[in-house]
Amino acid sequence: MTPALLTPARVPAHWPSALAPDVLEVIDMPTPYLVTDLGTVAARHEEFERELPGVRAYYAMKSNPAQEVLATLAARGSGFEIASLGELRMLERAGVDPADVLYSNPVKPPAHVAEAYRAGLWRFSFDSPGELAKIAELAPGAAVYVRLRVDDEASVFPLSRKFGTSVGEAYDLLTLAERLGLRAYGITFHVGSQCANPLAWRQAIADSARLMNLLRADGIELRMLNLGGGFPARYVNGVPSIETIGAVVTAAQDELLPYRPELLAAEPGRYLVAESAVLATTVIGRERRDDENWLFVDVSAYHGLMETLQTANGWEYPLWTSVRHAAEIPGMRFTVTGPSCDSSDTVFTGVTLPATIDVGDILYIGSAGAYTLSYASAFNGFPPPTPLFVGGGADGR
Ligand SMILES: Cc1ncc(COP(=O)(O)O)c(C=O)c1O
Repeated sequence: MTPALLTPARVPAHWPSALAPDVLEVIDMPTPYLVTDLGTVAARHEEFERELPGVRAYYAMKSNPAQEVLATLAARGSGFEIASLGELRMLERAGVDPADVLYSNPVKPPAHVAEAYRAGLWRFSFDSPGELAKIAELAPGAAVYVRLRVDDEASVFPLSRKFGTSVGEAYDLLTLAERLGLRAYGITFHVGSQCANPLAWRQAIADSARLMNLLRADGIELRMLNLGGGFPARYVNGVPSIETIGAVVTAAQDELLPYRPELLAAEPGRYLVAESAVLATTVIGRERRDDENWLFVDVSAYHGLMETLQTANGWEYPLWTSVRHAAEIPGMRFTVTGPSCDSSDTVFTGVTLPATIDVGDILYIGSAGAYTLSYASAFNGFPPPTPLFVGGGADGR
């Protein structure tokens, strides 16, 4: 694994100018901190809706629930997707109407269903008879959408083992929903987070079309098709662009669906926020253990870099350092670990960094806006990154 080393001369064209290495260099703040460019969040939202015409984004706020991010997206007219009552309360603080929120966690605490319904949220996902019974009792008359199990093999973080049901079971469940006094409202799926294959959406839309056909024969027409999340962000390796995915999704809708539901929705999380932030961490120690070079820094997996532990081969972020004239210094391979007394907080192995890097130098971790702060704890007494915001603003520019 060799994350890209960025220097001002080698910054990729898409990199936000507010987060350029030479711009961040002048920030005079104790690390760790996470700088988020709200202009990038707004730009990604604009691109998403442009490249998937007719599809409304419901931001999956679990990926980054900062109030500034929520306000930026709310100002642009985005909808929102939640997993819990706690997330709904954060949205209410940002002025979002619960009626504009999708509750897409298929298995929910009963009290959260009741409270969300009381607050005005009216659409709930499910994938089992038990959850339907729960919703029928605590949110009578609510609209429900079934979560299909779809192929998520091409994603970095699969979800279909934990959630989703087959087309046949989904048909039974949506007809049961009607008998329970609920409204059979729609279909959702998730192709897995950071999905590299646009055809995964096409296949999932084909599965949805089969279900829509079955239900239509019974006189049930659905109001929503929800394409879920999984839209990939740019880290180190190339990913299909949103233009490419949008073209595949649009063609699949036109070619495969028996009718166009009133609402075409999607729940992008990572795509909207990952590229908007950089995490800065300071080297607190450099040690050699046997023949391995270790760099100790002031953040770890427990302080926001949990995704580095969630994949078999580690997770690559664009990296660069504050080391002067880094391009002229030979590279050396390092294992980068956190400040805690636990070895499982190690975040990168075999990454090439300038050989002279040492205590006091800063390591910058790019594309760090998704699933970082929302995971961060103060494990072992080391504080999570301080959030900083630049660019754009609540007006979404
Ligand atoms: C129901 C649901 N929707 C959307 C998302 C967002 O996924 P992503 O960040 O890959 O776009 C998730 C992520 O886990 C999810 O569980």
